[in-house]
Amino acid sequence: MSVKIAARMPTFATADEVTDAARAALPDEVWEYVNGGAGTEVVLRRNRAALDALLLRGRVLRNVSSVRTDTTFLGIPLASPVLLAPIGTIGLFDSGGAASCARAAARAGSAAFISILSTPSLEEVAAAAPDAALVYQHYIRGDRGWTLELVRRAEAAGYRALCLTVDSPVDGLRERELRLRFDRGAAQAQPNLVGARRELQAAVTWDEVAWLADETALPLVLKGITHPGDAARAIEAGAAAIVVSNHGGRQLDPQPGAIEVLAEVVEAAGALEVAVDGGFVRGNDVVKALALGARAVLIGRALCLSLAAGGEDALVETLRRLRVETERTLALLGVTCAGEVAATHVIRADWATPPR
Ligand SMILES: Cc1cc2nc3c(=O)[nH]c(=O)nc-3n(C[C@H](O)[C@H](O)[C@H](O)COP(=O)(O)O)c2cc1C
Repeated sequence: MSVKIAARMPTFATADEVTDAARAALPDEVWEYVNGGAGTEVVLRRNRAALDALLLRGRVLRNVSSVRTDTTFLGIPLASPVLLAPIGTIGLFDSGGAASCARAAARAGSAAFISILSTPSLEEVAAAAPDAALVYQHYIRGDRGWTLELVRRAEAAGYRALCLTVDSPVDGLRERELRLRFDRGAAQAQPNLVGARRELQAAVTWDEVAWLADETALPLVLKGITHPGDAARAIEAGAAAIVVSNHGGRQLDPQPGAIEVLAEVVEAAGALEVAVDGGFVRGNDVVKALALGARAVLIGRALCLSLAAGGEDALVETLRRLRVETERTLALLGVTCAGEVAATHVIRADWATPPR
């Protein structure tokens, strides 16, 4: 008896297969480093548990023969509402580093946030994928002149937006890294960081945000907002978008899961576009975020693990799988596009399903 195999089967058909392949490929300390969070890792678990505690509630007989997942974020056309999060140590997972993210984003119709801490340089990343929609993610680790130099470089290299990560005045207490004596700075080169002074990051206030918004014509995204009051401040300071994020549970611990605070932050954010990250691995997770008012979702660890499992091709597969899973969930909910998903499509479970 012969088994029929489709002409082009993906290497990894499910999220768990990617995780298993990454586990086998990564050295133990890198596996621990990427999967770790701050403190007792309550936030890390809570990001996932809170997603699992949200159930979907669909309607039937609604003609879902044609379902669309395409959308835009800051005017950037996207095949699906899934973006690649900035990962400073991306070079630990793929020798191409952030250039592999940029190429994968271009191939899958996504957009990639490129961390200031990553490798290769921000110009080399842009040159590696001229068609990619890229967002430059900055940390303020120098004076205004130092920041402006990097912003001008990102503008000149064709980046489409500027993201300032605001949840990291100091590092979270990463106990797994401490236990492993893991030195992130030494783990890879940081070509964009010349002349940086780490201690200046703690002094940043809303004044710097307003100044930055004035200085650049690029739309400004603030990543790491979890409080509605800060969403309101972001509007005043001239931001165009925010990312509701607790840095994947790697900074303030404990705090609520990202999806738990999403709806109230969206409400305060007015016309700002809102993306969210923290624990997203499947298409049905993405739909839950859409239902609570997000326009897009960022993947962090799922991106790292995809690169570790099979490089750029595996990351393209992950983005395509997330698009197909999102499409399937929308159809099962009885809606035909992201715009039709509403808060009425989710209910909170009394008990969370234990995450895998
Ligand atoms: C290994 C690693 C490195 C990260 N580096 C950065 C960074 O340089 N800048 C940043 O804004 N966020 C960084 N983050 C946070 C991610 O951008 C994102 O907010 C988080 O990973 C989302 O949660 P998830 O991993 O559960 O998807 C990093 C996260 C991880 C796991």
